[in-house]
Amino acid sequence: MGNISYEFQVEKDDFERAGEASSKIKKILRQLGMDSGIIRRVAIGAYEAEINLVIHSLGGIISFSIEPKSITIIAKDSGPGIENVELAMKEGYSTAPERIREMGFGAGMGLPNMKKCSDSFNIESVVGKGTVITMKMMLKDGD
Ligand SMILES: Nc1ncnc2c1ncn2[C@@H]1O[C@H](COP(=O)(O)OP(=O)(O)OP(=O)(O)O)[C@@H](O)[C@H]1O
Ligand SMILES: [Mg+2]
Repeated sequence: MGNISYEFQVEKDDFERAGEASSKIKKILRQLGMDSGIIRRVAIGAYEAEINLVIHSLGGIISFSIEPKSITIIAKDSGPGIENVELAMKEGYSTAPERIREMGFGAGMGLPNMKKCSDSFNIESVVGKGTVITMKMMLKDGD
């Protein structure tokens, strides 16, 4: 069987549909009968990445692929990029304005959670260009 991959467009400020891509990803993994532990990790990573695209980016794409031994999620956006990635990765760091915090976001936990959920995590960001986050979750026998 070849790799299965999907792409979801995520629009800036689209709170109505925020979480849709990660829900679809979760559903696909459930239909494939994957283990609940790996589904949970993938769903959290994808959700945090998706919400960040809605809140912090100009919009982007979440792609997701199932390989024989792993699942890869890539979130790629078209800006504005992150000035200080090391700072952005710190637990509790957030630039979310009050309006966003009132909606329950902005704890500054999304990026640290993405890293925790992944077996390998990479973030590349260029100010004025955009951010690419790659998360890989390894499958175990029985997943
Ligand atoms: N795709 C992105 N584009 C630009 N800036 C981003 C992006 N993702 C994260 N950031 C920056 O990194 C900060 C930390 O992100 P993180 O997801 O950890 O926290 P948050 O989104 O602010 O709050 P939470 O995820 O807990 O709701 C954000 O506040 C924002 O400044
Ligand atoms: Mg976040």
